[in-house]
Amino acid sequence: MNRPNPLRDPRDRRLPRIAGPCGMVLFGVTGDLSRKKIMPAIYDLANRGLLPPGFSLTGFARRDWADQDFAQIVHDSVKAHARTEFREEVWKQLAEGFRFVPGDFDDDQAFERLRRTIEELDELRGTGGNHAFYLAIPPGFFGDVVRQLKEHGLAEARGDSWRRVVVEKPFGHDLESARELQRTLGDVFPSGSIFRIDHYLGKETVQNILAVRFANEMFEPVWNSNYVDHVQITMAEDIGIGGRAGYYDGIGAARDVIQNHLLQLLSLVAMEEPTSFEADSLRIEKQKVLSSVTLPRRLDLTTARGQYAAGWAGGEKVIGFLEEEGIKRTSTTETFAAVKLNIENRRWAGVPFYLRTGKRLGRRVTEVAIVFKRAPHLPFSDSATEELTQNALVIRIQPDEGMTLRFGSKVPGTAMEIRDVNMDFVYGGAFTESSPEAYERLILDVLLGDPPLFPRHEEVELSWMILDPVLDHWARDDEKGKSKPEQYEAGTWGPASADEMLARDGRVWRRP
Ligand code: BG6
Repeated sequence: MNRPNPLRDPRDRRLPRIAGPCGMVLFGVTGDLSRKKIMPAIYDLANRGLLPPGFSLTGFARRDWADQDFAQIVHDSVKAHARTEFREEVWKQLAEGFRFVPGDFDDDQAFERLRRTIEELDELRGTGGNHAFYLAIPPGFFGDVVRQLKEHGLAEARGDSWRRVVVEKPFGHDLESARELQRTLGDVFPSGSIFRIDHYLGKETVQNILAVRFANEMFEPVWNSNYVDHVQITMAEDIGIGGRAGYYDGIGAARDVIQNHLLQLLSLVAMEEPTSFEADSLRIEKQKVLSSVTLPRRLDLTTARGQYAAGWAGGEKVIGFLEEEGIKRTSTTETFAAVKLNIENRRWAGVPFYLRTGKRLGRRVTEVAIVFKRAPHLPFSDSATEELTQNALVIRIQPDEGMTLRFGSKVPGTAMEIRDVNMDFVYGGAFTESSPEAYERLILDVLLGDPPLFPRHEEVELSWMILDPVLDHWARDDEKGKSKPEQYEAGTWGPASADEMLARDGRVWRRP
């Protein structure tokens, strides 16, 4: 008879989600993403006991390395970036499953070697023919790699086993290229085996948006145009482009994060209640809301773009975008972008959603602010409410994860004076568990074959449909020499045109 474990908290009825026998092949092992995010997340999963004991990780790259050299790279990355403590016994077991296959993406023999390596791992480590191919490489190479996987029989699962492919954003650079990318992947892998990573969806605070909205009674009744004045979604970074000129120039802030992270945030904030948290139910609601998003007619007045100029960050002098190594002095790539969007449905008609993002801004913060309408009537003297602004619910995605409710309250004293106060929920104060990294959650979900946190191709297409007209508008302005991104000093909150954009609507951006 199964006796309950007396040490287990009876409230914890959740079964641990542990991946079954499997392995991962990582393309792009020398890149930042692999070293800073993917490798540490794999170790953290192993350390938390969520990977199968025989898990294997095979690196593939154009490097003359042996298995041990690859293991050293992973070791260094884990030491530098893992979230959980380093435990020798966990490391040893994990590292036994490391293999390295040297080769180019067009090298048939290398892919033959990869096939043999995977077969050996199935034998030796019991990976059961289950493998995820993680393409942490520039999208220009996706086609070459998936074609090779197909030609060498690596993409096809046999019997009960599975094969999956994992791709990172950017999913194309416009609608047309996103469709092309989908054709490339879809030729080789069935749609249920394609996992697109938008790492924002792996963040606890992002998943919490749906929890807060749909597990409570007090938010949904006011979550609509009757009470909400507007919504601001901000993703501000204090860093510059660092060593990423090659990727960033020609891409810019709108393609880099609005098309994916910010529009995903918008869809979670604005969607209707899904019938369940299954991937299909979520996708239906996200698609519905994304297809209701429209742009205002005058894009010159309702969008803003900028480029950081020299200034200050973290107490140090920093150079401007056009002085960064690898950036053309004539580049018109934006490092700041803001757009106003409308959602044409019953819930949101008349409530603008303002999205903004930028590098080298005042500080690093991502938040969603639901700003409510003013009370219809204030039974106080004008001077009593001079300092009262609008109520707001601010969902802090990062850092300082939590939520703040801003409302008016009487200042203690003999007169009636009302001022804004904040009521705060802070993750760290409410929960003892620290949040796992987004990549831990997402990699585990790939290995479990659990799709809700991965955007579907349809969402990707809809996001490009929203953004393409803005990008075309900016490109036309560039061509005609009509306007270009406005310079803003590093360490400030972006170009004046972004402030003017809101001022036209009688509103101001929050200073987070
Ligand atoms: C990535 C962007 O998707 O997100 C980067 O390509 C950006 O430009 C990064 O710096 C920010 O991620 P996070 O999790 O630190 O907000």
